Amino acid sequence: MKFIKQDFIVPFSYYTYFTEGLFKPDNLLFKDLIEADGEKGKRKLLVVIDSGVNDKHPQLQQEIFDYVQQFPHVFELVTAPVVVPGGEPSKNDESLVHYLLKEVEEYGICRHSYMVVIGGGAVLDMAGYVAAIAHRGVRLIRIPTTVLSQNDSGVGVKNGINAFEKKNFIGTFRPPYAVINDMEFLTTLRMRDWRAGIAEAIKVALIKDKKFFDLIRKNVTLLVNRDKEMMQKLIYRCADLKHIAGGDPFENGSSRPLDFGHWSAHKLESLTAYKLRHGEAVAIGMALDVTYSYLVGLLPENEWEKILDLIQNLGFKIYVPQLDETFDAQSSNTVLSGLNEFREHLGGELTIMLIESIGKGIEVNHIDISVMKEAIDILKEREEVKLMV
Ligand SMILES: NC(=O)c1ccc[n+]([C@@H]2O[C@H](COP(=O)([O-])OP(=O)(O)OC[C@H]3O[C@@H](n4cnc5c(N)ncnc54)[C@H](O)[C@@H]3O)[C@@H](O)[C@H]2O)c1
Ligand SMILES: [Zn+2]
Repeated sequence: MKFIKQDFIVPFSYYTYFTEGLFKPDNLLFKDLIEADGEKGKRKLLVVIDSGVNDKHPQLQQEIFDYVQQFPHVFELVTAPVVVPGGEPSKNDESLVHYLLKEVEEYGICRHSYMVVIGGGAVLDMAGYVAAIAHRGVRLIRIPTTVLSQNDSGVGVKNGINAFEKKNFIGTFRPPYAVINDMEFLTTLRMRDWRAGIAEAIKVALIKDKKFFDLIRKNVTLLVNRDKEMMQKLIYRCADLKHIAGGDPFENGSSRPLDFGHWSAHKLESLTAYKLRHGEAVAIGMALDVTYSYLVGLLPENEWEKILDLIQNLGFKIYVPQLDETFDAQSSNTVLSGLNEFREHLGGELTIMLIESIGKGIEVNHIDISVMKEAIDILKEREEVKLMV
């Protein structure tokens, strides 16, 4: 037998920066970052903005324009920023991918140019996918504008869109060139979007860091009252805990520790026609999996109570009717089918993260459906009690 083996290692590294007022004239972070790339001459920038951000920050386009003008030797803004629909619709409309690809082609964006994407997790995922496939990869600078994208989605390596009513069915693993978190964007978020990102922080705390869980618990009131400093702390710690170095960045294994609470969350998002935000669905998904963990004897009752209290005190729902409508593992239209879809998405054996104590995740390869059903009933009852008081 003849064969040729190709063997190589590709090192990746990128930074996530934290700032305020990124495009204010005296903030040199963006200019310095681009200037340090070793290229000669002007770098082309194609800027994409989430419509939700564009509406709430009407001065942003002018600020970017003025900023770029200040450094004509560094930047060439190839066209006015392209505004795309914000939120999940951007991942559900494949024509947007083609539209942005066309912009890349028309303005001659090459592998040494930059796509600069400003927006929530959904727009970052969609436009990041474009950056990954155009010319097999142009440089992507993510500027996340929601809590969730600043502490979780924007700092990772995944891009993608939804297809066949399945979340993230099409996508790539591709590290960004850099990520820049600008706290100022968060001031204009709707309350539900401010809250939604906290779910991902609870997620990492539950599987990895009890101290972080206690910090969130102690500061619920500040978080609910939109305290900037507290939120900044939460985002930094959460993003730091998402650290992928040494892990399995391209998900070659079957295990996805950071997808705790996500098997049902992804399914709930599509079952509710994306009326639930990703973070809101994750809050329900975690409530479900910690309740299951408690019922199968993994998690002590007092810790289970603490977790559900925290989720509810932050204002998250822990139950929606789609959780138990037509509860049937065989149908593709139920939450339970999310288990199989989750396995299929990752490949290999079903691997679900549960927790055995706050801060300590544990993986299992089997889920007892009748116990899961009981967990749903408990959440339903608890949500009803909450609504009554
Ligand atoms: N790639 C990953 O690793 C990863 C990880 C987690 C989640 N995600 C994805 O992220 C998406 C959710 O992202 P999200 O929670 O950021 O929500 P989102 O992107 O759906 O945005 C929610 C809403 O907020 C608006 N918005 C964004 N920034 C704003 C601002 N500064 N002020 C006012 N409004 C603003 C948007 O226009 C939209 O209407 C989901 O599609 C989820 O699958 C991806
Ligand atoms: Zn998530």
